Amino acid sequence: MAEKSPLARARTVRQMPKWSELRSVVQFQRPQLNRTARRLQRALSIRDLRAVARRTTPRAVFDYVDGAAEEEITAKRNVAAFRRVTFCPDALRSVADPDLSVPLLGRRIALPLVFAPTGYTRMMHHHGEAAVAGVAGHVGVPYALSTVGSTSIEDVRAASPGGELWFQLFFTTDPRVNEDLLSRAEAAGYTTILLTVDTTVSGMRLRDVVNGLTIPPTLTARTVLNMSRYPAWWFNLLSTGGLSFASLSSVPGNPTPGQVASMMFDPGLDLRALDWLRARWRGNVVVKGVTTPESAREVMEHGVDGVVVSNHGGRQLDRSAATLDVLPAVRAAVGPQATVLIDGGVLHGQDILAARALGADAVMIGRAYLYGLMAGGRDGVLRAAEILTEEYRRSMQLLGVRRSEDLTARHVAFTPRVPV
Ligand SMILES: Cc1cc2nc3c(=O)[nH]c(=O)nc-3n(C[C@H](O)[C@H](O)[C@H](O)COP(=O)(O)O)c2cc1C
Repeated sequence: MAEKSPLARARTVRQMPKWSELRSVVQFQRPQLNRTARRLQRALSIRDLRAVARRTTPRAVFDYVDGAAEEEITAKRNVAAFRRVTFCPDALRSVADPDLSVPLLGRRIALPLVFAPTGYTRMMHHHGEAAVAGVAGHVGVPYALSTVGSTSIEDVRAASPGGELWFQLFFTTDPRVNEDLLSRAEAAGYTTILLTVDTTVSGMRLRDVVNGLTIPPTLTARTVLNMSRYPAWWFNLLSTGGLSFASLSSVPGNPTPGQVASMMFDPGLDLRALDWLRARWRGNVVVKGVTTPESAREVMEHGVDGVVVSNHGGRQLDRSAATLDVLPAVRAAVGPQATVLIDGGVLHGQDILAARALGADAVMIGRAYLYGLMAGGRDGVLRAAEILTEEYRRSMQLLGVRRSEDLTARHVAFTPRVPV
């Protein structure tokens, strides 16, 4: 019989498994019993939050957030443009103790992020605008309340007593309403007016038409059937006061939501409205919805503090340019002193990094926090903010940059896809 090799002879010595030794190689997690908390814990990206939102929210509501105008080409372009960015890291730079904060409109904010205005936010989740404003204040970044918000100017202030609040103005066809909104925002300590200028008429969002989610709503039988599968959503909404344009209580004659909506879209709006607003509002005025260098320069000449390069998240004029593609040209047109924000398609902390490097002072997010809100109310918004902050911090360090303010065009390679 052949001799056994020394290897074969080496015997594995066994012992009874010891609990204390198992603990040294494996870390056990306590099971999370709350279903929403479990879902949020498992969400590692904004895309994960979107997937949860899709499962937990009535289809018509999810589509209202997720959808965009016409063929949704611009909405897709916004996202795709951020993915064309290549990072160019600096080696051997100390990035311990990174500083994410940036100056914005006379204050310092915790990172270059602003929560964008979104109308009717309590439809997405009954926690609504109050939750979003609360989280923004907690994180240390501004929140902009929409004219067509479902929580009033005063209630949002109550939800975020120390937070920086901005008010988004749809310049309505009734001067008394404009005046009422501005004086209430002033009294409640809002610092900045965002004047939205890309809504001369309403964009055509086909998903909403198919779902019957127009204002006023004319829901189809299929949509009602789908919504009936979400009794908790209905119960939460109806037991917390239903939905209204909460800041528009002063509109004379108690108009229907449809009449209010038609006041918001003024095809006659022009630069005279901007001049009136600039003279009326002592704080910052920022024009939201500029997508060309020429328009940006023109509004700056009317004395405003800055612009938001925005196509309304692709919800208004489809086939307009991705915002990142026009950002460098807008920055060049308005010069280094003007405040330039960008929104549309920001779904990752690296998008914030890219926008900053390409000339933006900060980004605004819409859908990114709404996915969180639909997935888990206030905690979901907080999770969205945490995800973006961690992605931003980690990527900034890997890029060899210690301070947000040190990011420059040198850190990215990007070729805009629009002629300028
Ligand atoms: C559901 C929804 C409602 C919105 N409502 C408003 C609004 O009332 N006023 C406004 O100026 N912009 C509104 N926007 C546009 C956002 O302020 C922002 O420009 C856009 O969401 C940015 O794109 P993103 O969603 O890809 O981040 C809305 C966007 C969404 C998704």
